[in-house]
Amino acid sequence: QQAQPLKGRRVLITAGPTLEPIDPVRYIANRSSGKQGFAIAAAARAAGAEVTLISGPVELDDPAGVAVEHVESAREMLAAVETALPADIAIFTAAVADWRVAHEGPQKLKKTEAGVSPLQLIENPDILATISNLRDERPPLVVGFAAETEHLIDNAKAKFARKGCDWMVANDVSPGTGVMGGDRNTVHLLTRGEDGEIRTESFSVMTKEQVAAMLIERIILALPGPAA
Ligand code: C5P
Repeated sequence: QQAQPLKGRRVLITAGPTLEPIDPVRYIANRSSGKQGFAIAAAARAAGAEVTLISGPVELDDPAGVAVEHVESAREMLAAVETALPADIAIFTAAVADWRVAHEGPQKLKKTEAGVSPLQLIENPDILATISNLRDERPPLVVGFAAETEHLIDNAKAKFARKGCDWMVANDVSPGTGVMGGDRNTVHLLTRGEDGEIRTESFSVMTKEQVAAMLIERIILALPGPAA
């Protein structure tokens, strides 16, 4: 019998890409596999947590013992997250599409005479920022991920400051790294010291399961207050 340090704790995790419909047959998506978020869900469960995993479309089996909710768009993901609250710990690994199509076509869209796309994109809600800024139901520990293709640490620090989360995991998703869709990840954990300064801890390359185990270990060490 494994120790269950997260027993009685509610952990909420988002994972995978979102899928933003264009019309009945087309969509906008991205290359996220969901592997990192699913690995975190399994590690949290193994530590005894009550885990809700809200996932965009992925080709992975639901982790055992985890309540999985499958969604498509960013707006559906946000609604599912809000419904799943309260939580003690929220971890946002999903690669949420920044934009969606302003006017989803009820029928398959046609080419235009002018030869330009009829698509107009508008911003999606930012789930991490929304939940980090909740007044009443904000989880005591909110963790974001920053996937970057350049200036990893600087971009992640800026994002950390902007989103209002407690920790940020930065990872390089440049094509050469094989992180998107792959089984390994090289991460940096950004936290804040007592003085409010951002601290960066860098790890060497690990499997996504090892990254998940490391993160859950850190969460156990930092456990916020009593269970939600
Ligand atoms: O896409 P971006 O780099 O801003 O993502 C950083 C963090 O914010 C990730 O944890 C991601 O899950 C979250 N996010 C979100 N909703 C969005 C965009 C990003 O929750 N619309």
